[in-house]
Amino acid sequence: MRPAIFLLSCLLFATSVAARENGADARIGKALVSVTALRDDVLRIRIAPDGSLPADESWATLPEARKASVPVTPDGAAGFHTQSLSVRIDPKSGTVRVTDPTGRIISSGLGWRTDGPGFRLDFALDPATHIFGLGDKMGPLDRRGRQFSLWNTDAYGFQESTDPLYKSIPFFLTLTEGRAAGLFLDDTFRTSFDFGAVHPDRIGIEAAGGPIDYYVFAGPDPKAVLRAYGWLTGTPPLPPIWAFGFQQSRYGYKSDAEIREVAGRLRHDRIPADVIWFDITVLDHNRAFTTDPVNFPDFPKLVSDLDAMGLRSVIITDLHLAAQPGYAPFDSGLAGDHFLKNPDGSIYKGPVWPGPSVFPDFSKASARAWWGTLYEELYNRTGVAGIWNDMNEPSVFKVPGLTIPDSVLSPGLHNVYGMLNSRATYEGLLTLQPDRRPFVMTRATYAGGQRYAVTWTGDNSATWNHLRLSTPQLLSLGLSGIPFAGDDLGGFTGTPSPELLTEWLAIGMFNPIARDHSEPESARQEVWVHGPEQEDIRRRFIETRYRLMPYIYGLAEEASRTGIPMMRPLFLEFPAEKEAGGEFLWGPSLLVAPSPWPESPHPYKVVLPGGGDWFDFWTGAKVDGEPEILPEPGRLPVYVRSGSVIPSQPLVQSTKQLPDGPLTLDIYPGPDCHGSVYADDGETLAYKRSAYYRQSFTCGSDRPGELHLDIAAPEGSFTPWWRSFRLRVHGETEVVEISVETPQKNQRISLMSALSK
Ligand code: GLC
Repeated sequence: MRPAIFLLSCLLFATSVAARENGADARIGKALVSVTALRDDVLRIRIAPDGSLPADESWATLPEARKASVPVTPDGAAGFHTQSLSVRIDPKSGTVRVTDPTGRIISSGLGWRTDGPGFRLDFALDPATHIFGLGDKMGPLDRRGRQFSLWNTDAYGFQESTDPLYKSIPFFLTLTEGRAAGLFLDDTFRTSFDFGAVHPDRIGIEAAGGPIDYYVFAGPDPKAVLRAYGWLTGTPPLPPIWAFGFQQSRYGYKSDAEIREVAGRLRHDRIPADVIWFDITVLDHNRAFTTDPVNFPDFPKLVSDLDAMGLRSVIITDLHLAAQPGYAPFDSGLAGDHFLKNPDGSIYKGPVWPGPSVFPDFSKASARAWWGTLYEELYNRTGVAGIWNDMNEPSVFKVPGLTIPDSVLSPGLHNVYGMLNSRATYEGLLTLQPDRRPFVMTRATYAGGQRYAVTWTGDNSATWNHLRLSTPQLLSLGLSGIPFAGDDLGGFTGTPSPELLTEWLAIGMFNPIARDHSEPESARQEVWVHGPEQEDIRRRFIETRYRLMPYIYGLAEEASRTGIPMMRPLFLEFPAEKEAGGEFLWGPSLLVAPSPWPESPHPYKVVLPGGGDWFDFWTGAKVDGEPEILPEPGRLPVYVRSGSVIPSQPLVQSTKQLPDGPLTLDIYPGPDCHGSVYADDGETLAYKRSAYYRQSFTCGSDRPGELHLDIAAPEGSFTPWWRSFRLRVHGETEVVEISVETPQKNQRISLMSALSK
């Protein structure tokens, strides 16, 4: 590869910067640097080394966002500003420097150059900057000082040093002394990111191909960056409510009887649960869209019996299809010309679970539409509730690189293949049942893939280290536009000890998706496998999740509307705060504080961020100072931020069961005290037509000793299950409870007078 050094061309060609109504264009030698303000706080920067911009296409961004623009104010010869940022294009080098209105740097380009079909971009890295994002990369949440590459890979048994992994999300957020900004490189080729590893003062980004096309987000706070990224690449649709219940899975449930035994035990032992997953062992010869007629003789009956128990069925449909005439998806795909081809025009075949397999070309709209029709039987007749798209990096066994060769699947499509697979599924389900929320889980994806599927972190291991690392992985997915994610609770490979499984299930109940999953070579790891003592502890945590469902579902709805994740690093709520140990926030109000060394009995200190008061979630008591925790089996410290109102419900065994009793509002008095509750039918898209219920609460005090709760009139036309509220006030006084009817208009309830009665 021959680097075309940019400076050289500067000497040979004239340079000029021309203002545009919505940005500026710089001609630097032959090259064109085009900067457009899509919004006040979002810039798009495109560089065409040969002077003409390629067609404006993207798999990741929403066309209406990418093509948006706002007027800017020119600043002399080389730049412009909006209300949120100033841009200067260096007329010599064509680098772009973006600052905020106070002059602080948002993004400072140091140079760019083409490199064969690829390119390199360099940016300045301030010593005080922390870097977050790139999806579920391993290791510490702060990516500074490390290098990563993005190339979707089936990373079975990945470890802390494994890179790349299953997903490619070329987006990162920087945080410099509480000031946040973001950068998204919309490049689907193999890319690499060096966050100060080679040069401590530099971010270096390399791409193996594709147009130079990136976006800068001005912040200034981390939530503003995430909202803007969600605006550009789309926020995820709201999953059905059962997606937030407890889910039982295992690669290895071999028969109708075994599934019934697991489902029966969940109900018998009163372990609340919502979903049973069907892995490839349900299939006939590992062929997607079939079921094994011997071991699952009446699959529709099994699905409907589970449904009657309040358990939804999610089934796996890998994208690789057995290359076997007579197998319907193969025949119809062949007839429709939907499979990837070798350079000589023959159909490409590679070995995966069913043996020699063919691979749909999901980049073609016709192939995506055909793929969607394959779900008709499962979705519209059998009654499965959701679909699992696995192996879509795409994974191929026993071949170099363990994927489809570049000559068959172009390297610019490799990283989007999994996203397009899940898109085809999502759109297919929506076509089959237009008013039902599709549930799709994908393993591989690209930026913007959140519009189609939830995800999980792939084949982790049953080790304490993997449990520890799962928190930064899920936090990072949330910071990368993918709030609905989980990891295999208990670990996929290997067998967890009783203590490890208990701790993993406990923490997992504060993760967006909570699914227990494992591989056949490991011992079974359902909640009950280690005897009643462990089962009781695990059940208590699962019950906590179900009691908190109104809060959790409210977080999910917020994430789908705004892009703000359910699971949050401390800095998202407290931008000045450093990350602490294994801690994370579950929504705005709850702080979960597992040990930073989960396998060690060493005591640890919990950092309670923000300087305000915190309450112990389990006892409701106000916490004095920074708690020192002595780890004990079954103890997971959780705290509540003062100034919170948290909705919860009576215990149910699944989200299908209507809670019986009032909605509880736990009030933790403090500054800016507020909360809200959200409800809808949990399954359909009627909430988009205003069939939802949203109500906000504020609590405050007009004078010492006085405390009141203002309940706002509800929004939306949906009638929720509760008829009354039970208010519980926590604080110095004992917890006091009062009940009120569900108000339909603004209502103030005096809590202190209730307390003194
Ligand atoms: C892959 C998946 C795993 C699944 C297995 C069999 O390894 O990551 O979750 O159980 O394939 O389908």
